[in-house]
Amino acid sequence: MEFQWYPGHMTKAKRAMQEDLKLIDVIVELVDSRVPMSSKNPDIDPMANGKSRIILMNKFDLADPRVTEKWVAYYEEQGFFVAKVNAKKGTGIKDVNDMIARACQAKIERDRRRGIKNRPIRAMIVGIPNVGKSTFINSFARKACTKTGNKPGVTKGKQWIRLNKSVELLDTPGILWPKFDDQSVGLRLAFIGSIKDELFHVYELSILLLEYLKENYAGAVAGFYQLEEEPEPARLLEEIARRRGCVKAGGMLDTDQAGRYLVDDFRSGKIGRISLELPDSPAAQTD
Ligand code: G4P
Repeated sequence: MEFQWYPGHMTKAKRAMQEDLKLIDVIVELVDSRVPMSSKNPDIDPMANGKSRIILMNKFDLADPRVTEKWVAYYEEQGFFVAKVNAKKGTGIKDVNDMIARACQAKIERDRRRGIKNRPIRAMIVGIPNVGKSTFINSFARKACTKTGNKPGVTKGKQWIRLNKSVELLDTPGILWPKFDDQSVGLRLAFIGSIKDELFHVYELSILLLEYLKENYAGAVAGFYQLEEEPEPARLLEEIARRRGCVKAGGMLDTDQAGRYLVDDFRSGKIGRISLELPDSPAAQTD
C-alpha cells in the first residue's frame, strides 16, 4: 500500500519551522511513548543543525513501562536528553525546566565567556499531530504564563511564553508530518490515531491490532472484555460485538462497530499499558 504524505501545506510548514528553528536554542520534541520511533520524524535531524535536543516521551501513562525504559536508554545513548511525561496530568513536567537548562549548559557557558549575561534560553516544541503538543504547552506554561509579546526586529511577530527567569518558549509548536515508507509504521500510527482512520478499514485495523495484542500482550483483551478465553482475532471481534451489543438490522453482528470500540479502548489505555514497538524491532533501527 502506498501513502501520499507530503501535502503542500506541509512544505510550507517545514519552511516556517526552519525559520523558527533559527530563533531557538533547544528543540523539545514530543513523541508518543507507545511508538517512540514511528511518531518521530527523522527529517527534523538535519534541520536541528547542532541545537540541543530533548525528547519528551509523552503519554507514558499509556505505554508499557518496561518498554518505555528501553526507549529512554536508547535515545539517551544517541545523545538526547530524555524525560517521560504525561502532559494531560502534568506528571514529569516540572523537571523539564531543569532539563532545558542542562541541555543548554554549554551555550550558557559560552554566552558567559562572551560577556552575555541573563539571555533567556529559547525553546520550541515540535512533534507530529496528536502527540500532545498543545496539551504540553498549556500544562508547561500554566504557572509561568506571561506572554512576552512581539519584540520588533528580533522575533517578528512571534509570541514567546516566559517560563521563568531563564527560559522562553515559542507559543506555537512546530508540526511535523508523520513519515513512513513502511506500512508497519503507518499501521502503528493508525493504531494510536495519529493518521486518518480512513487509511485502514476499521475491521482490518482491529484485526491487525488484535493479532499484535495476542502475540505481545496475551490475555489483555480477554481480561478487559471479561472473556474466558482469547480465540483467534476474527472470533474475538465477534465476541466483543456480542458483549457490547453491536448488532446490525436483521440481527447480524456488527464487527465494524466492535472494531471501533476495540480501537477506542486501546487508544484510551483501557486495555492496558501497551507499547507497539521496541528499540530493537526492525522499525526501530536507525538505518
Ligand atoms: P497536538 O497538539 O500534538 O496535536 O496534541 P493535543 O495536545 O491536542 O493532544 C492530543 C490528545 O492527546 C488529546 O486528547 C490530549 O488530551 C491527549 N494527551 C496529551 N498528552 C497526554 C498524556 O500524556 N497522556 C494521555 N493519556 N493523553 C494525553 P483528546 O482525546 O483530543 O482530548 P481529551 O479527550 O483529552 O480532551
